Amino acid sequence: MARIQVSGGRRLSGTVEISGAKNAVLPILMAALLTRRPCRLAGVPYLRDVATTMQLLGQMGVAISVDDRARVSLDAAGLSTDLAPYDLVKTMRASILVLGPLLARHGSARVSLPGGCAIGARPVDLHLKGLAAMGAEINVEGGYIHARAERLHGARVVLDTVTVTGTENILMAATLAAGTTVIENAAQEPEVVDLAECLISMGAQISGHGTNTITVVGRERLEGYDYRVVPDRIETGTFLVAAAMTGGKVRTINTRPNIMDAVLQKLEEAGAELSVGDDSIELDMQGRRPRSVNITTAPYPGFPTDMQAQFTALNAIAEGTGVVRETIFENRFMHVQELQRLGADMRVEGNTVIIRGVERLTGAPLMATDLRASASLLLAGLVAEGETVVDRVYHIDRGYENIEEKFGQLGAAIRRLPVS
Ligand code: UD1
Repeated sequence: MARIQVSGGRRLSGTVEISGAKNAVLPILMAALLTRRPCRLAGVPYLRDVATTMQLLGQMGVAISVDDRARVSLDAAGLSTDLAPYDLVKTMRASILVLGPLLARHGSARVSLPGGCAIGARPVDLHLKGLAAMGAEINVEGGYIHARAERLHGARVVLDTVTVTGTENILMAATLAAGTTVIENAAQEPEVVDLAECLISMGAQISGHGTNTITVVGRERLEGYDYRVVPDRIETGTFLVAAAMTGGKVRTINTRPNIMDAVLQKLEEAGAELSVGDDSIELDMQGRRPRSVNITTAPYPGFPTDMQAQFTALNAIAEGTGVVRETIFENRFMHVQELQRLGADMRVEGNTVIIRGVERLTGAPLMATDLRASASLLLAGLVAEGETVVDRVYHIDRGYENIEEKFGQLGAAIRRLPVS
């Protein structure tokens, strides 16, 4: 299995280009199912979840090609099946995003239930409830969701909990439903907004995206899209935290500072100096050790759960004591045990981890458990004395493009070890 080796102690410096946002690319690729017209998406990162999505759509009869400029062309005119099989869904929960578009355009969908997941139960009940309110007939049988609807109709959908992919599924379905759908307590994440903008470019009538109430007036059909995806705010944040932890100076380019307020505030609290341009953020730590920060994760515009593990790693070596509270997912502290193996002083109490910053960590072999947790292990490896080897890095490859090359360009001693 692939592993990444990091030798800690180097101060990062330089410029890193940010890739397109995984969490926007996936729903936008799925949105190609809503139309018979060709679609083209630019800025697509080379990630395992993107490859899985293309495989899933390809199996359904969508013609897909990728050019050498990170553009993906899709044509779902020849859609041949409504099945999303278990072997693909189990490797990527976001496969559930085929449900809304398939049901809306094809009238039926069979999607494997995603099942358990390392970071908690993560049910899809709200997706199903929303689509049922729009007239879908839904049964769960043999581990599969079977959904059917002659034509969906508009409805008022009130989400009990803010759900990102749930909002996206209902939003996509609503674009082709008869009448008006109002999604209340909708997710406001920038990736939901990016999907909505792409759908609007296809002719969908959507308003209120970016607020907690989204209104969609359904259309008979949609056109194709030619769209460029929003930059990845989580990748940006991960590199900035790495710079802060190593006392370095890093400029992230091709990014979107105005969707990163909560994270940038915490970096400033940690003692970082930030220079923000239209599409760049430079962090300068001037060799200082970061100060501990308290974090509580929350739906956007709150502090993103996908940055929680990275800030937990920062607190591990910061000055003072930091308290990190996770309110979105239970069991999202798998990285804590691994960080403790490097010498971190942290204690989990329910949904909270209390971290007393230590002066130094020492390298050790570690196991990646989920996507963002694995990133936090690499960050810790960048400051730990000696060598850290992170195993099971396929988790990292799900969501970070060329991570070791990008860190390498910033001066980190990092390499991917050949599969043994
Ligand atoms: C998305 C992101 C993921 C991020 C998460 C929270 C994608 C592909 N993934 O995941 O990176 O960590 O948002 O920002 O965009 N819930 C229910 N019932 C449902 C759906 C969700 O109870 O039907 C609960 C979940 O268990 C969780 C909370 O709602 O506690 C939020 O989950 P959700 O926003 O749905 O996460 P994802 O969309 O899976």
